[in-house]
Amino acid sequence: SRVTLGHSMSCSGLVENYVAAMVLSAVGDTLGYYNGKWEFLRSGPEIHRQVAQKGGLENISIKGWKVSDDTVMHLATAEALVAAGKQPVFPELYSLIAQNYQDCMDDMQGRAPGSTCVQNALILHPDQPDGWRIPFNKNEGGCGAAMRSMCIGLRFCHPEQLDSLIQVSIESGRMTHHHPSGYLGSLASALFTAYALNRKPPHEWGKGLMEVLPLAKAYIQESGYFVEDNLMHWFYFEDQWKKYLKTRGISDGVSLPTFPPAYGVEERDEFYVSVSYSGWGGSSGHDAPMIAYDAVLGAKNSWTELAHRAFFHGGDSDSTAAIAACWWGALYGFKGVNVSLYSALEYRERLEKIGKALYDVSQPEE
Ligand SMILES: *[C@@H]1O[C@H](CO)[C@@H](O)[C@H](O)[C@H]1NC(C)=O
Ligand SMILES: *[C@@H]1O[C@H](CO)[C@@H](O)[C@H](O)[C@H]1NC(C)=O
Repeated sequence: SRVTLGHSMSCSGLVENYVAAMVLSAVGDTLGYYNGKWEFLRSGPEIHRQVAQKGGLENISIKGWKVSDDTVMHLATAEALVAAGKQPVFPELYSLIAQNYQDCMDDMQGRAPGSTCVQNALILHPDQPDGWRIPFNKNEGGCGAAMRSMCIGLRFCHPEQLDSLIQVSIESGRMTHHHPSGYLGSLASALFTAYALNRKPPHEWGKGLMEVLPLAKAYIQESGYFVEDNLMHWFYFEDQWKKYLKTRGISDGVSLPTFPPAYGVEERDEFYVSVSYSGWGGSSGHDAPMIAYDAVLGAKNSWTELAHRAFFHGGDSDSTAAIAACWWGALYGFKGVNVSLYSALEYRERLEKIGKALYDVSQPEE
């Protein structure tokens, strides 16, 4: 049977889901980052102690807390998607994205941008044909592509748009992360956002990703750019995901996830390290969406629990938070989130505006 994004004819995301996805992603990012204090604190229990000291999530004020590079680059992606309009032409869309990635580097003061993103954004040539492409690099499996691609799933959420979602998430991803572990993370973040808008139950998402990977591989082969290198390094992302889905018992896309009997703050830190590439959970393209997914599965319908699992841990917490919170907004809108948490959010108006605009450009033509 044909692989699609959902069962209905068009995706069921409401404008509130789009706005909440953009705004809450930035809220998660802001909390996970805490001006660098929490992103780089390697102990989940210590972060949870500090959260409790502030009176818990409900009592935290983010006034004066900046969004990190994750949100700046997510906005850069989203604004290019909107600028490309209702019927984007792909090479032009890629030039717009590349231009925004380059321009947004002027807004990285105090936001701890990843060095791969910084270096590669600056060598792009958005004004030249194919100037949005960079060569393959075996060291580019970090999470910098996965943290900024969720909005691609907002833009291309209709069942027949799966090919566009695959292509745009891969090409925008490999503008800075030309390694399958990097750009397949971008694909996973975008795909699960589209699934969320389509009301696909989260325990089915992992199997969906496994079915989409062969299509992604076919696209890489068709695109004819560093094909051999990409295929040689393809296995890691896929193997890690297969292993994770097996661990949770959800490879079949039917069963509900199972978690260890004790899966508190410490156990989660250990698990996040165990799925990581180099010991810092969530810092790679495969495990940033994986940890975000684990949090969505475990949080069920509790925003607070989502925060505890995806925002506050010893890994690369702003990236897992930005991804998980975006999916929350796509699934549930602002449900369970106190407005006091985001009233002082940096770029709040810009995020709300782009959420509405993404909704508008993604509506099918009459
Ligand atoms: C809530 O936060 C305020 C400061 O923002 C602090 O003064 C107060 O003690 C906190 N409440 C609790 C219950 O910790
Ligand atoms: C929202 O947060 C504010 C400030 O922390 C608090 O006073 C209010 O009771 C909260 N509202 C709800 C519905 O929890």
